[in-house]
Amino acid sequence: MRIDIITVLPEMLEGFVNESILARAQKKGLAEIHLHNLRDYTSDKWRRVDDYPYGGFAGMVMQCEPIDRAISALKAERDYDDVIYVTPDGERFDQKIANGMSLQKNLIILCGHYKGIDQRIREHLITREISVGDYVLTGGELAAACIADAVVRLVPGVISDDQSALSDCFQDDLLAAPIYTRPAEYKGWRVPDILLSGNEAKIKQWEMDQAMERTKRLRPDLLKK
Ligand code: ADE
Repeated sequence: MRIDIITVLPEMLEGFVNESILARAQKKGLAEIHLHNLRDYTSDKWRRVDDYPYGGFAGMVMQCEPIDRAISALKAERDYDDVIYVTPDGERFDQKIANGMSLQKNLIILCGHYKGIDQRIREHLITREISVGDYVLTGGELAAACIADAVVRLVPGVISDDQSALSDCFQDDLLAAPIYTRPAEYKGWRVPDILLSGNEAKIKQWEMDQAMERTKRLRPDLLKK
């Protein structure tokens, strides 16, 4: 899959794209992440991307033209499944949305700044609006990074043991069971005996019971879905 991220702060995402799970996915040829500096699509010598809002409101608004030019340039090269705008008033991102996106071929993610982007872009060019939670970030870059990370790790082959993506938290609307590694006892803190028993059926049942108990206690809202 290919993700094109349009941003005024490509440097902010460069390290992430080249170091994280995204780097591994790219090395294996399973994903491509491309960063595009929105300022490269401006037509004035100040490379300006924002202007004052009509109506005398506070803050600055990202202008139509550079965004339109950036998206059009990408669309001229290939078809996109979605042009995503990351914004706090979008659809709330979750594992189901990540699963769906991981099956798509080409995605654009547009990062907003300031007060946001001109509404006409949202109406005419954006096909999906996504929020990563009910809080306001300074810009969309961290949201784009969250989405790219959550989606790319689900692409088959990116995580070596694909079982491990399947047993993630939220994959069945349940939190994951606790996990342990060696030693079996540390400072007197013991790993649950059941995990040392070698009884696979009992261990599976324990894992399910733990997942259910943790979900009921910490995220009862997930059980109502
Ligand atoms: N940009 C600013 N805040 C955001 C959020 N919570 N989700 C997505 N994009 C954002």
